[in-house]
This record gives sequence, structure tokens and C-alpha cells, in this order.
Amino acid sequence: METSKIIKNEIIKNITKTHDLPIYVYDEKTLLEAVKKITNFPNTYGLTPRYAMKALSTTAILQLFDKLGLHFDASSGYEVERAILIGIAPEKIQLTSQEMPNNLKELVEKGVIFNATSLFQLESYGKLFSNTNISIRINPGMGSGHVKRVNVGGPSSSFGIWKDDIPKAKKIAKNYNLKITKLHTHVGSGTDPEIWKKTAKLSLDTVKLFPNVHTLNLGGGFKVAHSDYEKTTDIQNTGDVIKDIFTEFYKKTGRKIKLEIEPGNYLVTRSGILITKIIDKNYTGENGYNFIKINSGITEVTRPAIYGSIHSMYIINNEENKDTKTENVLVVGHCCESGDILTPKINDPEGLQPVELNKSKIGDYLIIENVGGYCSSMSFGNYNSFPKAEELLLQKNGKIKVIRKRQTMEQIIQNDIMN
Ligand SMILES: Cc1ncc(COP(=O)(O)O)c(C=O)c1O
Repeated sequence: METSKIIKNEIIKNITKTHDLPIYVYDEKTLLEAVKKITNFPNTYGLTPRYAMKALSTTAILQLFDKLGLHFDASSGYEVERAILIGIAPEKIQLTSQEMPNNLKELVEKGVIFNATSLFQLESYGKLFSNTNISIRINPGMGSGHVKRVNVGGPSSSFGIWKDDIPKAKKIAKNYNLKITKLHTHVGSGTDPEIWKKTAKLSLDTVKLFPNVHTLNLGGGFKVAHSDYEKTTDIQNTGDVIKDIFTEFYKKTGRKIKLEIEPGNYLVTRSGILITKIIDKNYTGENGYNFIKINSGITEVTRPAIYGSIHSMYIINNEENKDTKTENVLVVGHCCESGDILTPKINDPEGLQPVELNKSKIGDYLIIENVGGYCSSMSFGNYNSFPKAEELLLQKNGKIKVIRKRQTMEQIIQNDIMN
């Protein structure tokens, strides 16, 4: 029987006896190890590690990271409010958003750091807070990502002030007496280390154009393997190279630039598994496929359907079904939607790619790995009226803690107005 790298089958089986499925389980030890790597990220002139809270925004996870000293990257005014509401100090939150919140003034007055991602945002900030310091996000002209949809740099991306518009940004800053003291670039998620290093160089070249900049935020995007098709970033190696680039910059310019990074995936993805149950099987003939249907899908793990991402998965048989043979299957979800698929072709959400799994029967369990990031926080919500799944934390003392309850039907319809 295959065994999860992070959570033992025995623990999973116990969970299936006492909780409704599907259910997310996050492993605290794995989270703590990732935080340690990120807080020890090589640097010479100072480091502020931020957690990109969009990756997994469950309160207990945010509070754990807050306690461990991480700062936060929020991608909407609502994320900022959410973080403040659960006790995170506003000064620890930087807002980098596509939509400027209506209450930006109030948030900034509380201490939230604003990162202007367009000329319009810069000007709007200037109108509210002239004679202050500001951070701006630059699109340095190159992007990266395992698929186009997570590429947020280069000419086909709307994120950040386009590199050639820097003179315009400077003019706006001058008009409102804003001092640009921080630069930010984030070129994509799932970026390969080599590209990450190139980005650091390119971003520091941009710093040269801003004499008052003391901090460079290189964003997130440290690649994490969701399956054997991908390779996890060697964080120490990537950090060492970036550190050297910053040191070289100091030697050439005399400027000691502080580093900020804001990983999401790297901090949470590997910590999470999703326990699902096989609810049906189907076969579509010689030219077709063997299907396994689970009581989950795009409702909990959307990434395969939208990016063509492959998450590693394995079967846990009920005792009486133990079978050592394997079969090639397509794993599909429970929504009435042909796109509800867990086994697309890699990076091609339209494609189908059977995977080899241990033989299973209806009632057995399918475990999906590496679901800590961009799964619970990016789910299809209540599509087909499925309730949002429960979330557990396997604490470092071995005890299981419920960190989010399963949604009730009353909660699903609570804002609907009855006739
Ligand atoms: C501005 C910004 N920072 C950080 C991140 C985190 O990226 P990742 O989870 O790939 O590390 C994102 C993700 O989209 C982002 O948009």
C-alpha cells in the first residue's frame, strides 16, 4: 500500500472514521519546516519574508505564521481586512492588488503598506497621501510560470507598471511629492530557479533608476512540485545566488538593498492532503477510459481543471479490498461538469491523461497530495451546492485539530432572501 510522505495511512484511516469527507489535512511539521527555510532565506542587508495569504487563508494558518514572525502579502482590500480582523498587525501587511479598495485611506491610516501596481493606483495614492513614501510594482518586461495563466510579467501581463512607463511613474511621484522607497516585482508562480535569478538581476537594474529605493521585493513564485512532473526549488541555492547578486549590486553602486520575498506555494503547498472517497467507477469501452469518480473535484482542487496541473495521488483500500495490482484511470470529480477532472494532460486542462493507481473499489479512499496552496482558498465554492470542506491540522504533538468546520446548508443559503 502506498504511504503518504507526510501523513501516515493509519492517521488518515482514523480521520475517515470520525469525519465527513472530503477533508483537507495540513501537517504542522511540514509548515514549520517551510517557514524555517523562508525565514532563513540568504540575505546580506536584511530580509522581510511575507506570506502570500491568497495561497491558504484559513485563520489558524495565518495566525500560526503571524506567531512565527512572517509578514503578509494581501491581494485585495478584503484580504487586508480579514488579516486585521484575526489580529494581524496592519504594519505587517502589504497590499498588492489589482483592484484598489474603496477604503484604502482607512487601511493605510491603520498602518497597512500600499504597493501601487499601476499608474492610476500611484496617482490615486498620491491624491490621498502626498508627501509620503510609496512602494511600486514594476513589470520588468519578462514573466514566468508553469503555464501562461500564472505568468504575471512581460507584455502579455497587466500586472505592475510597465518598465517603459517608469518616467511617467516618476512624474506622478514628483507631482505629489511621493518618495519611491520600495520596488516590487513578481513575475509568476511556479517559476524555475534559473528564471528567478534572472528576475533578480533585472529588478536590481530597475532599482538603479530609483535613488531612494532601499527595499526590493522579489515577490513569490518559488516552484513547488505538485507531482513527479515538477521539481521543488532548492531554496538555499536560489537564495545564495540572489544574495550574491545583491552583494554585487552593493559593490557597484554602494547601495545596500534590503530584500523582501512573498512566497505562497512554498510555505503551504506540501503540507496539505485531501482525503476523498471513491463514489463510483465507469468504463467507456476499448477506445475510452476507466474512470474513478470521487466525492470531491473542482469544489476542493481547482488547479487541474484550470491550469492542467497534476497533483500526485494514491489509493488507500479498505482492508477487504486490498489489491496489489494497478490500473490506469482517469480521476474525475463529483460536479456535473466535464471539466471536473483531476487527471488532465500536464499543463493542458483540455487534455486527458490516465494515471496508474492501485486497483480500487467504490468506498476506497483517494488521497490527493500537495493541496496546501491554492486549493481551499481557490475552490469553486458552492458549485452544485456542495458545502465547503472541513479542514484539519495535524499538530506537531500528533493531535488532530479542526481548524475550519464543514459548511452547513444554512450557511450556504444564509444571504439568500426568501420569498
Ligand atoms: C504579488 C504576488 N506575490 C506573491 C505571490 C505568491 O506566489 P507563489 O504562491 O507562487 O509563491 C503571488 C501569487 O500569485 C502574487 O501575485
